[in-house]
Amino acid sequence: MPQPSSPLYERVKHVIPAFEWPAFEPDIEAILRLKRERDAVILAHNYQTPEIFHGVADIVGDSLALARQAMKVDASVIVLAGVHFMAETAKLLNPAKRVLIPDLRAGCSLAASITAADVRALRVSHPGVPVVTYVNTSAAVKAESDICCTSGNARQVVESLGVPRVIMLPDEYLAQNIGRDTGVEIITWAGHCEVHERFTADDLRQLRRGHDGIVVLAHPECPPEVVAEADFAGSTAAMIDYVAREKPARVALMTECSMSDNVAVEHPDIEFVRPCNLCPHMKRITLGKIRRALETLTHEVTVEPDIAGRARRAVERMLEVK
Ligand code: 13P
Ligand code: SF4
Repeated sequence: MPQPSSPLYERVKHVIPAFEWPAFEPDIEAILRLKRERDAVILAHNYQTPEIFHGVADIVGDSLALARQAMKVDASVIVLAGVHFMAETAKLLNPAKRVLIPDLRAGCSLAASITAADVRALRVSHPGVPVVTYVNTSAAVKAESDICCTSGNARQVVESLGVPRVIMLPDEYLAQNIGRDTGVEIITWAGHCEVHERFTADDLRQLRRGHDGIVVLAHPECPPEVVAEADFAGSTAAMIDYVAREKPARVALMTECSMSDNVAVEHPDIEFVRPCNLCPHMKRITLGKIRRALETLTHEVTVEPDIAGRARRAVERMLEVK
């Protein structure tokens, strides 16, 4: 079988088999054309598959970077290749733009774990305690919060408040990890990421036993016992920076599967051992759906005006921290 010869395939050939490429190429070409015709940009999260991440995205990053970049977009249309809360955040920060998500069902187990009424009830139980809300939540939940955070700035956000106690929701493990790092007493909520909660400290020890000298990086949505035994914990962008800076010979990223593929494209000499947990929500986004989103200008993400103002304030306060 002849090998694909495009410069783009040359870049991703370590992570996309040659026989798969002909299925992707027509959609990639159509999307690149449609982006120009529609005056659109594609923002893609680090968990998107390599054909999206390297093939059609204009801006890639962790939740924090996508929020910051969404604010600066000049184009008329933003396609969010990620999950619904990311599209809502982009809309909050750049309300004049048309924000599209290629599949409306791309949710998040953390966002689904809590409602605005739950936050109001927590405030009644803990009067005067500030509410720090992970961006992995609906705009309605953000609107009930004092300030948002991401995994990339949670520590700085909590420390910026200068108080001994905070309510941090909805990710129990992220909250426990930040409580340990900051010494701040944290009131938690029992939400979990369905991808990261599956990693165990035993998985990590098995990786170390099976792969000499392996460096293990964990996302702070992992259980605290996993984070405690990892060599480094940080947001998806912080993990990418760690790999680029330290260049470990062999590494495992305890996070969503596609991350390793996307980072491996930049570092063909590093051996990535892949403890593979897929996010079913992130995986709802495909090239075909991005193409349809641009063809039909759907699915548009909007936020109710009475929620948007308050939710935007919580996100903007976060962006002022760092
Ligand atoms: P970050 O990319 O902000 O680390 O978030 C991870 C995540 O699970 C987003 O859904
Ligand atoms: Fe939500 Fe976890 Fe999927 Fe991220 S990886 S979108 S936190 S379920």
